[in-house]
Amino acid sequence: MRSHKTTMVDDVELLPRQDREAALADAGYNVFELASDAVAVDLLTDSGTGTMSNDQWAAMMRGDEAYAGSSSFEDLEAAVADVMGFEHIVPAHQGRGAENVLYGALVDEGDTVLNNAHFDTTRAHVAANGADPVDCPVDGARDPDSDDPFKGDFSVETARRVVEDVGVDNVPAVVLTVTNNSMAGQPVSVENTREVAAFADDIDATFVLDACRFAENAHFVQQREPEFADDTVADIAREQLSYADACVMSGKKDGLVNAGGFVGLREQDDLYEACRQRGILYEGFSTYGGMSGRDMAAFAVGLREAVEPPYVEERVGQVQRLAGMLDDRGVPVYQPAGGHAVYVDANAALPHLPRDEYPGQAFVCELYLEGGVRGVELGRFAFPETERRDLVRLALPRRTYGPDHLEHVADTAAAVCERGDEVTGYEIVDEPEMAELRHFSARLEPL
Ligand code: F0G
Repeated sequence: MRSHKTTMVDDVELLPRQDREAALADAGYNVFELASDAVAVDLLTDSGTGTMSNDQWAAMMRGDEAYAGSSSFEDLEAAVADVMGFEHIVPAHQGRGAENVLYGALVDEGDTVLNNAHFDTTRAHVAANGADPVDCPVDGARDPDSDDPFKGDFSVETARRVVEDVGVDNVPAVVLTVTNNSMAGQPVSVENTREVAAFADDIDATFVLDACRFAENAHFVQQREPEFADDTVADIAREQLSYADACVMSGKKDGLVNAGGFVGLREQDDLYEACRQRGILYEGFSTYGGMSGRDMAAFAVGLREAVEPPYVEERVGQVQRLAGMLDDRGVPVYQPAGGHAVYVDANAALPHLPRDEYPGQAFVCELYLEGGVRGVELGRFAFPETERRDLVRLALPRRTYGPDHLEHVADTAAAVCERGDEVTGYEIVDEPEMAELRHFSARLEPL
């Protein structure tokens, strides 16, 4: 039985098929351009789309909207220190704001930044600073069938080769993204975190943890890493984060809020000061950083809830259930499922489509046409410069959908697979200049 009940409702409607066809054509076959009213089950992202608790709503009523010295900022700072162990934060309006603040302070033109896998905004911020974002996933991360428990890990071996190539002085930051969103939401072990910390120390780089989904990652560690089987998610999260010099956080994920983020730092040193000044310039004064007092108040409560049992167990459990339902219906999914999303393997689902016809995007469009379900392509369309499978991510908002919604999603995906050989590919007819961000606004046409 679920450990919470619903006391606020938000209607969803499945539009008639012909309206969905018209909406998708109007959107240039890019689901980012769809109005949310036209979507029945929205699995575009787990970011800022979740449901807040009554304690969070109560905290919002007490939000302190002072420009400077807000008590809600103090509440947030205390929650970050308690839950994540970072004593100092530079607040930001969301994760990418924090990325801009931190990477702008850390990275120079011509540098290289290493990451288990860069998320799209991380990649774009590193590139925008004139640096080269290099992914260092472990062998098997791209294999949708390998049952390795920590396919999100960082390959120190690959990273060492890159460092030899580019020169140790040109690598200012080593980043570990937990869970690894661009690698199917796979977890990272604490053992690997320790190795990465030692490696970063060795090359004198700042070790940054992208902590967006730190609680979900800690749950996997508890389940899969024998050393931690008897520890709480809260303890594991603190331990894993303790190895990093800094973190970037999007509150829209494991902060359980609709907006907000921060850079977490250990000391008020030069890096902190540089981030603070950039924060003031780009985000807002250093006791709000683009968040309202109410956002910060809800964020402080959400962070504490994210590591409480049974929340995170149920949250990850729901994702695993959706993966099982899809698998039972013969939909090819990346295994094991990640923490926030199920990733459908569009190359396996639509094998007749060549990769330059964007099978992932074709699957996304069909999910919408078939059942009003919105997912997102994270394959060649989203990441044009990288070699990866054409995965379609079905991300579950936290505490939002119920079993009947999952049932509808699984039936819809199965129906698409059943008539897969009729599905046509797509071509891009208009795209923005910045390749890293093209999937947000490019327009396509069916072939
Ligand atoms: N890092 C990771 C690993 C992310 O998944 C995201 C956002 C960000 C940074 C940026 O945070 O959205 O608050 O600016 N991921 C969302 C997603 C958008 O759909 O996966 P943000």
